[in-house]
Amino acid sequence: MFKINDNYLKLPGSYLFSNIAKKVAAYSEAHPDQADQIIRLGIGDVTLPLAPAIIERLHSAVDEMAKQETFKGYAPDLGYEFLRTTIVEHDYQARGCDISADEIFVSDGAKSDSGNIGDIFSVDNKIAVCDPVYPVYVDSNAMSGRTGVYHPETEMWSDVIYMPCVSENHFCPELPKETPDIIYLCFPNNPTGTTLTKDQLQVWVDYALKVGAVIIYDAAYEAYISSENVPHSIYECKGAKGCAIEIRSFSKNAGFTGTRLGFTVVPKDLKCGDVSLHTLWARRHGTKFNGAPYMIQAAGAAVYSEEGRKQTQEQIAYYMNNATTIREGLIDAGYEVFGGVDAPYIWLKTPNHMKSWEFFDYLLEELNIVGTPGSGFGPSGEGYFRLTAFGSAENTKKAMERIRAGKVSGK
Ligand SMILES: Cc1ncc(COP(=O)(O)O)c(C=O)c1O
Repeated sequence: MFKINDNYLKLPGSYLFSNIAKKVAAYSEAHPDQADQIIRLGIGDVTLPLAPAIIERLHSAVDEMAKQETFKGYAPDLGYEFLRTTIVEHDYQARGCDISADEIFVSDGAKSDSGNIGDIFSVDNKIAVCDPVYPVYVDSNAMSGRTGVYHPETEMWSDVIYMPCVSENHFCPELPKETPDIIYLCFPNNPTGTTLTKDQLQVWVDYALKVGAVIIYDAAYEAYISSENVPHSIYECKGAKGCAIEIRSFSKNAGFTGTRLGFTVVPKDLKCGDVSLHTLWARRHGTKFNGAPYMIQAAGAAVYSEEGRKQTQEQIAYYMNNATTIREGLIDAGYEVFGGVDAPYIWLKTPNHMKSWEFFDYLLEELNIVGTPGSGFGPSGEGYFRLTAFGSAENTKKAMERIRAGKVSGK
C-alpha cells in the first residue's frame, strides 16, 4: 500500500482568502443593493494591463514561434542568456553588486522558487521567519517535515523560530535567541509594507556569516523602493554573497502575475563546507524544471528596455499614488499607519483594540470595503489590517472618503 507524505496532514487549512471571499459573497447576497458598492482593497494582485512595450515583444515572440528559422523548443534550464545578462546588468551591476549571469536561475515566479528552495537543504535545519509572514515560507517547510508540530491555540509550529515584527520594534526583526540555520527575510515586506535600511540588513548578513546560517531573501517588491537608504538587493550588503540567496519576481514590477516569470540568485561563493549551493540548485532546477517559456522570457527582457522601464515605472507610480492616498486618508481619519512608502501595502493598527477579523466585518458591513485581516499572516498580525494599493485610483479615493467619513478610530 502506498503511503502519503503525511506532513501535508499537519498543515492548518489556509482559509484566509477563501474566508474573505465567502464573507464577501454572503454579505453581497444578503445586501444585493450594496453588492456593486463594495471596494476591494484586499488583493495582492496587480490590476493594470501589461505595458505596451511588453505586449509588443510578446506579439513578436509569438510570431517567432511560427517560423521554422526562429522557432524555439525547450528553453535552457537555467534561462536564456539574453535575459540573464540583462538582469545582471540592470538589477545588480548597476547597483554595484558583483553578481554574474551564471548565478541567475530564471523561473516561473517567486512563489515556486521560495517554495522549492528548501529541496536543497537538510530536513534537520531550523528555520526562522518574521511574524507576520508570507505563508509560503512556513507551509513549504512544513510539507517537507522541517517545522515540527502545529499548535492551533498559538497558531505556531514547534520547530520554527518566529521573529515578531510589530510597531514596538518598528517591524524590524530582532536577532533570535535560538540560532537558526535558514533565515527567511522579505523586504519590502508583505504584509507590513515596511522595509529595512541597508545598515539594518547588514546586521542580518553579519549575523548569518557569524552563525553559519543562510538567508533566503525575497525581494519581490524591490521595484517599489523610493527611499535612498533602503537596499534593492541583499548583495548591496558586504559579505552577502557568502550567506544569501535572493529571490525576485516580475509579478509586481511589471504585472506578470498571470504571465509568470521570476528568478533566483545563488552566488557561487555560497557554500556549505566544500559543497556549493549553486551546484545543488542547478541540479534541482535541471531535474525538476524545464525552463520558462521563450516568449515570456523575451517579454521579461523587454521590461528592461528603455520604453519598458519607463512604462513599468509609470505603473508603479500609479500604484504608489494609491498607496499615498490610502496612507493619508487613514492618517487623516486618525489611524496608526505603517508601510505604503516603499511598498504597495499599507498596514494599519485596528482602532479601539478591535481584533483583525472584527475590523474586517466593520469595514465590509459599514463602509463596504474589503481588506485583509493581519491575523491571517501570523499571530503577531493580530490587531493589524492590510490594505493594498493595487486597486483603481478612483476606487481607492472613494474608499478613503468612506473611511474619513466613518472615523471609527475615535481618536
Ligand atoms: C513576498 C512575496 N513573494 C513572492 C510572491 C509571489 O510572486 P510570484 O508571482 O512571482 O510567484 C508574492 C506574491 O504575492 C509575495 O507577496
